[in-house]
Amino acid sequence: MFVHITGTGSYLPERVVTNAELAAKLDTTDEWIYSHTGIRSRHIGADDESTSAMAVKAARAALASAGVAPEELGLIIVATSTSDYQAFPSTACLVQHELGAVNAACFDLQAACTGFIYALEAARGMLRQNPRPALVIGAEMMSRIVDWNDRNSCILFGDAAGAVVLEASHDVPGGIWHSILKADGSGSQLIVREGGARGLASGPWMQHTLQMKGRAVFNFAVKVFDEVLCGLLNRSGHTFADLACVIPHQANARIVEAVARRMEVPLETFYMNMETIGNSSAASIPVALDMAITSKKIKEGDLIAMVGFGAGLTYGGILMSWRGQAAKPALAAHPTA
Ligand code: UT7
Repeated sequence: MFVHITGTGSYLPERVVTNAELAAKLDTTDEWIYSHTGIRSRHIGADDESTSAMAVKAARAALASAGVAPEELGLIIVATSTSDYQAFPSTACLVQHELGAVNAACFDLQAACTGFIYALEAARGMLRQNPRPALVIGAEMMSRIVDWNDRNSCILFGDAAGAVVLEASHDVPGGIWHSILKADGSGSQLIVREGGARGLASGPWMQHTLQMKGRAVFNFAVKVFDEVLCGLLNRSGHTFADLACVIPHQANARIVEAVARRMEVPLETFYMNMETIGNSSAASIPVALDMAITSKKIKEGDLIAMVGFGAGLTYGGILMSWRGQAAKPALAAHPTA
């Protein structure tokens, strides 16, 4: 069975926070932040905005671009570490209600910044049981969990949501070819946000902020990026030259540059938008995918790879060919169900 992404959408909150604004409150500068991360500004949600509200906006755009009605959906997965509620209800259930996707099973998936890659692969597997279209969303309100006094971490993050619609076919080749999902729990303490059941004795969860050992995470990211990308290409028998575009997790432009140097491949193949969006964790890859498609960096028939890494530690990637809207009539002519 082939599983295609048939629509994408994204949403960024209106408010833009520049490096200069952060430098006015923190011991940092625009020059330091840009030279160490490639980030100049990020979007931050309004006080009355929520992860689910951003997810709904991205989802509506993805459904419109796929030409899929909410009631056709059989599954909604929201990849997030910043769900509206600490545990339940899931953000996916809130999104389902808002969209009117009454036939969809719903759950959240937490694999930090790799969440969208994990969610895409989970949805691909579940489409075998229920071939109705699936909605996969990455949505994050990172601004609610970062420590705005910690210059080592807060300068990186922003808020955003990105969504894709997945549709299955037995006959229309293309879509997702291979995936790699991995984790290394030995690095679990490199990025931590406490306040779960383990830490309840030490105070309410909202008091807890993200803590990160940045340099160690940087080194991990460069190493596993190489492993995932080479692994995907080896499995498929392709080389880097066959890839039209690599969508990296938008953590830090210097990580992507280090990967390109290490692999001896052109930097231009990597799509980057962190300059104006920053690191939006699980939202970063679907937002970048949507922007790369909308700006025609990715075109019909292109082979692309998406690579994520983050807390857990988790990492992974997806290799797929993008058929775009051309897949839709073909899928309709060869329905799976
Ligand atoms: O998406 C989840 C995954 N997370 C990541 O991918 C994050 C990966 N890591 C990074 O992006 C980088 O490690 C950071 C941007 C977080 C830090 O950059 P770095 O080049 O690795 O800096 P560093 O941690 O090695 O620190 C070097 C120096 C330190 O000062 P001393 O001890 O040498 O005096 C830091 O205190 O830079 C200092 N520093 C800053 N200085 C000005 C750290 N942050 C800042 C800052 N402004 N914002």
